[in-house]
Amino acid sequence: TPPEAIRNFCIIAHIDHGKSTLADRMLGITGVVDDRRARAQYLDRMDIERERGITIKSQAVRMPWESVGADGTSGDYILNMIDTPGHVDFTYEVSRSLAASEGAVLLVDAAQGIEAQTLANLYLAMENDLTIIPVLNKIDLPAAQPEKYAEELAKLIGCEPEDCLRVSGKTGVGVEPLLDEIVRQIPHPVGDPDAPARAMIFDSVYDTYRGVVTYVRVVDGNLNPREKIIMMSTRATHELLEIGVISPEPVPGKGLGVGEVGYLITGVKDVRQSRVGDTVTNERKPAATDLGGYRDPKPMVFSGLFPIDGSDYPILRDALDKLKLNDAALVYEPETSVALGFGFRCGFLGLLHLEIVRERLEREFDLDLISTQPNVVYDVTMDDGSVIVVTNPSEFPYGKVAEVREPVVKSTILAPSEFIGAIMELCQGKRGQLLGMDYLSEDRVELRYTLPLAEVVFDFFDQLKSRTRGYASLDYQEAGDQVADLVKVDILLQGENVDAFSSVVHKDKAYAYGNMMAGKLKELIPRQQFEVPIQAAIGARVIARENIRAIRKDVLAKCYGGDISRKRKLLEKQKAGKKRMKNIGTVEVPPEAFIAALSSD
Ligand code: GTP
Repeated sequence: TPPEAIRNFCIIAHIDHGKSTLADRMLGITGVVDDRRARAQYLDRMDIERERGITIKSQAVRMPWESVGADGTSGDYILNMIDTPGHVDFTYEVSRSLAASEGAVLLVDAAQGIEAQTLANLYLAMENDLTIIPVLNKIDLPAAQPEKYAEELAKLIGCEPEDCLRVSGKTGVGVEPLLDEIVRQIPHPVGDPDAPARAMIFDSVYDTYRGVVTYVRVVDGNLNPREKIIMMSTRATHELLEIGVISPEPVPGKGLGVGEVGYLITGVKDVRQSRVGDTVTNERKPAATDLGGYRDPKPMVFSGLFPIDGSDYPILRDALDKLKLNDAALVYEPETSVALGFGFRCGFLGLLHLEIVRERLEREFDLDLISTQPNVVYDVTMDDGSVIVVTNPSEFPYGKVAEVREPVVKSTILAPSEFIGAIMELCQGKRGQLLGMDYLSEDRVELRYTLPLAEVVFDFFDQLKSRTRGYASLDYQEAGDQVADLVKVDILLQGENVDAFSSVVHKDKAYAYGNMMAGKLKELIPRQQFEVPIQAAIGARVIARENIRAIRKDVLAKCYGGDISRKRKLLEKQKAGKKRMKNIGTVEVPPEAFIAALSSD
């Protein structure tokens, strides 16, 4: 296909504003998927994605569309719709999908208006110089206020309210005109067909049967089946076993040229060998420079994952090895905890990524897991100048610390203006710094804050939602690091450190954390034959203390004489129970107590 007849675009939207529904409708209208038989949400393949209503893995679908171009000539066009993941954790993947496109459909729910992810995605699209087509969706809803939100949207992107298209992905109203506008407004791709091949990888997905399927956008030259290709970040060469387009199933072809979007298969089994953001060239005539923008995935949030049943450890290890094939950002290494036994310390892009991995482990591999409180990565500079990178609070060094740096994020919060006070109070409590505030309309405001990532991953989102009755939306991007006054708080049971509860917190919050944990454990740990002190300590300094009073436990007391078989049963049960106990020094703790203490309330 000549580049002049190609349009590459993405749909960007806040979560639930109807991106998938609109994408499905487009597939139906262009005849790529039989409209009546269209599987609901064709693009969201994984069950978890469908159930949670989120899109994790981006893909690209090719749709034919007959229309009239900006120059007035009518003809057959190829529309490549590039799907973008919808959540903050995957910002880098979003930015690569955008970089593979010339234009973006900015979709806004006509009953909700602009939200935080609308803005964050719009900013990313503008950084990539994309043509933006503003669209109000769900106009079939009785609560839709297209006039009001067209004003907001027009003000935001600097166009006229009349320029905002109105559609309903559900009923199909306005979708054909939208496809025509994509042809008319979005520029065709431009590249040098005679230059050495350069294609950008914007997604890479592991398939059990075919190995890794890599999605690419060709910028210059062309890629052909059976030639040798080079991944420019690693210089690794592979043979192109298959190359083609998705419409809506993979269709192998004779190659991809300038501006085209499709998939390739090389037989590699691990997405780490086919990395998002990397440039593909061919070996026969390699390009001198890559397309730029490649970045190693960087885990931002760490947590320990432990099987509740210790004998599941090998299953957990195999499961992580399998998941890794499909997830270049997941890292893990074995970890042993006094309280929780054998497990893994895992690194994630963010909280949602953690939840997804954990849910997949539990669901697809039938594991019951406990995860420790997520933490961020700290750079600790010691007095002697050495720097320690801490991904596990229990490894945070004692004494002689010169400086601790923690990651920060730039966040965008959108909410009705009546909540400004509540949001500011929350952000200040979380050590936030106000960067700016803008009114999108009389009653909607955008607040921008720098916040420590550690505070955001704790319970920021839940608190934001509850303080704004669910009306606020949040988006954030990593923004370097800052020096902070942080200390490690240890929790001791009868003088023994319970590693899983060590936490790195701001100095001002150390007492609150210590009291909270000590109080929780006091409730959860059963009384022993002797008194057990629970202490929270910073180094050698105890900052909080609780006592579990001693009892003589006599399980038989309940059985008022009589039934001897019942007594025997109880004794056996107690013996079995003992076996499962974790010993912290001489204190016996049922694993459930640790699990309960770790699960957030
Ligand atoms: P992600 O891709 O997961 O970010 O979500 P999404 O933006 O794709 O949202 P999705 O298409 O899943 O739609 C969210 C909800 O809005 C679903 O319950 C849809 O049925 C509903 N919805 C989508 N489009 C329309 C529309 O045009 N009209 C109405 N009334 N409802 C719609």
